[in-house]
Amino acid sequence: MIYYFSGTGNSQWVAMQLASKTNDIAVNIIECSVPQSMKDQTIGIVFPIYAWGAPEPVLEFVKKLAGEPAFTYGVCTCGADAGKAMDKLNDIFPLNSKYSIVMPSNYIMGEDVESEEIIASKIAKAKERLEVIAMQILQMQSVNEVNKGSLPWIKSNLANYGFNRFARSTKPFSVTDKCTTCGLCARNCPANTIKMVDGKPQWSEKCYQCTACINRCPVKAIEYGKATTTRGRYQFSHSKY
Ligand SMILES: Cc1cc2nc3c(=O)[nH]c(=O)nc-3n(C[C@H](O)[C@H](O)[C@H](O)COP(=O)(O)O)c2cc1C
Ligand code: SF4
Ligand code: SF4
Repeated sequence: MIYYFSGTGNSQWVAMQLASKTNDIAVNIIECSVPQSMKDQTIGIVFPIYAWGAPEPVLEFVKKLAGEPAFTYGVCTCGADAGKAMDKLNDIFPLNSKYSIVMPSNYIMGEDVESEEIIASKIAKAKERLEVIAMQILQMQSVNEVNKGSLPWIKSNLANYGFNRFARSTKPFSVTDKCTTCGLCARNCPANTIKMVDGKPQWSEKCYQCTACINRCPVKAIEYGKATTTRGRYQFSHSKY
């Protein structure tokens, strides 16, 4: 079984690719309950990197996993590097194999979206890598191929702490007149924090900062402070790739 978390589709795509190449099933952590037994199963955990760490719902989910799987692996998707995120996940849920895969960055609160060329090139490289990873999973090979980047300890401890403490606020979210009241942002929110009030989204406090609401609004009606007003939006395109 492959359990995944995804805000803008990169990790979902990776999980689905691995599922089809390894004859497995991919399920969204947000929509599933903890399995009763993992005995003799291969368990994969696929997720995006947030500030060189794993997202809170992933850490909460794996804490509840108990049992004796036959083989476990973790695959994180990241715009550049993962720091010590996979080591920290491994402390909670021991992994036989650990991988990071570079995918387009969706963190538009921090920087603009990448060019179409960079996005296409990252996805093409990821596709090739997934072929190899799937084969290694099927053979239950123990592999450790995580790009930790520079200063991984500092990033995964100090910077990650700062992110979780200060950068997950919903206060900067706002909605413009472009909103068509479709309700997609509320339906897409994995924290279930968006409620539609008089046809417009309203945010409560809880937020994973997954960027699903802001990146996946079909009419670009959501902003986060001022910086996003001049930036593009990103989500994995199943029709293009
Ligand atoms: C809040 C946040 C923090 C991020 N931090 C990192 C990071 O530390 N390193 C990195 O390489 N990419 C980082 N990214 C980029 C994502 O990890 C990357 O785009 C990922 O593939 C998104 O996956 P998804 O489409 O499944 O949500 C960050 C993205 C978000 C939203
Ligand atoms: S997804 Fe966009 S258009 Fe639809 S309700 Fe949310 S803000 Fe409005
Ligand atoms: S409010 Fe937006 S960024 Fe926060 S968890 Fe929900 S969809 Fe993700």
